[in-house]
Amino acid sequence: MAEPVGVAVVGASGYAARELIQILLKHPDVRVTVATSRQDESPRLDAIHPSLARRIDLACEPFDADRVAERAQYAFLALPHTASMAVTPSLRDRGVKVVDLSADYRLSDAQVYEDWYGHAHTDPEGLQAAVYGLPELFREQIPAASLIANPGCYTSASILGLAPLIAEGLIERTGVIIDAKSGVSGAGRSPKLGTHFPECNESLSAYNVGRHRHTPEIDQILTTAGGGGEPVEVIFTPHLVPMDRGIFATIYARPVGTPVEHDLLELYRSFYADSPFVRAINHLPATKDSAYTNFCDITVRVVRGRIVVLACLDNLIKGAAGVAVQNLNLMLGAPETTALF
Ligand SMILES: NC(=O)c1ccc[n+]([C@@H]2O[C@H](COP(=O)([O-])OP(=O)(O)OC[C@H]3O[C@@H](n4cnc5c(N)ncnc54)[C@H](OP(=O)(O)O)[C@@H]3O)[C@@H](O)[C@H]2O)c1
Repeated sequence: MAEPVGVAVVGASGYAARELIQILLKHPDVRVTVATSRQDESPRLDAIHPSLARRIDLACEPFDADRVAERAQYAFLALPHTASMAVTPSLRDRGVKVVDLSADYRLSDAQVYEDWYGHAHTDPEGLQAAVYGLPELFREQIPAASLIANPGCYTSASILGLAPLIAEGLIERTGVIIDAKSGVSGAGRSPKLGTHFPECNESLSAYNVGRHRHTPEIDQILTTAGGGGEPVEVIFTPHLVPMDRGIFATIYARPVGTPVEHDLLELYRSFYADSPFVRAINHLPATKDSAYTNFCDITVRVVRGRIVVLACLDNLIKGAAGVAVQNLNLMLGAPETTALF
C-alpha cells in the first residue's frame, strides 16, 4: 500500500483549519504531518480544538518553510489574506503545492486586488500561476496546478447559483442582485466587536454594502464562466445572521427572453450532472439541510418575469475546508468525493 501523502495545515488554530483537519482525518490517502500556529509553547491540536482529542496526536509549531517541505507535499493555508501571500512563495520554491483558503490569489489582476484590499499584491508570480479552485467550473485545470486559490464562501454560493444562467446567456450580465446571508463563523475565530454575542445575537444586519471584497471575485469568475465578453457586474449585499454557520444567497436576475421554471431547473440539473456536490433541488433550500456537508443546494424560480435563484451551503465546508479537500483530491488524482461524504 502506498504511503500516505503528508499535508500541512498552516494557521491550524482557526475555524477553517479545524474543519479541514476533521475532514482530512477521514482521508485514506493523506496524513496531517504539520500544523502551524504563532501561539507560544507549541500547543497540541486537541488543546486548541477539543473536538480533535483522541483523533490526532500533533502539536502546533511556528511556521518554517523548510520544516513544512521536509514533511509535507501539500500545504493548506488557513490564514488571513496578506499572511498567505507572505508564505506561499517560500513553500512553492521548495516544491510544496499550496491550497490557499484566503483571498490572496483569487483575483487575477493585481490592480483589482489592490483596489479592493487596499494594499499591493506581493506575489505577482503566484497570482499568475494560481488556478481558481471551484471544481464545478475549473475541474480540468485543477489537477496540474501548483497553487489553488480556494474560493470564498459567499462567492461559491453566488457563482454556483448563477453560472448556468450566465454560461447559457439566459440573463442580463449587469444589474444582477445577490442578497446574501452568512452565519457568524464566516468571520473566523478571532473575537471582534461585530461578532461578539450580545452585538449580533437576535439581530440581523447588513455590512460592507457596495464594497464587500467578494464582489470583484464573483464578477471575475462569472465573466470567465460566460466565456468572456461583456463583464458580469453584480450588486452584492451581505448580511450577518445570528446562526453559527451557513450561507444563503437569494439572487435576482433579468432574463433574456421568456424563462420557463421547469426548463431552468432541468438546465441546472444537466449543468451540474457531473458535479457530485451540487444538488439542483425542486424544494426551497435551507441552511440546515447543507450544514456540516460539502453540498451546495440550489433551486430556481420565475417570479413576475424575473429569475430568482436560491443557493445555500455551509461556509466552513463547501465554502472553505470541504472544497479545499475537493481540490486536493483532484490534484492527487483521487475520486473528487474522497473523505467528503
Ligand atoms: N470562516 C469561513 O467561513 C471562511 C470561509 C471561506 C474562506 N475563509 C478564509 O479562510 C481563512 C481562514 O479563515 P478562518 O475563518 O479559519 O479564520 P480564523 O478562525 O481567524 O483563523 C485564522 C488563523 O490564522 C492565524 N493567523 C492570524 N493572523 C495571522 C498572521 N498575521 N500571520 C500568520 N497567521 C495568522 C491564526 O492562528 P494563530 O493565531 O494560532 O497563529 C488564526 O487562528 C481566511 O483567509 C478566511 O477569509 C474563511
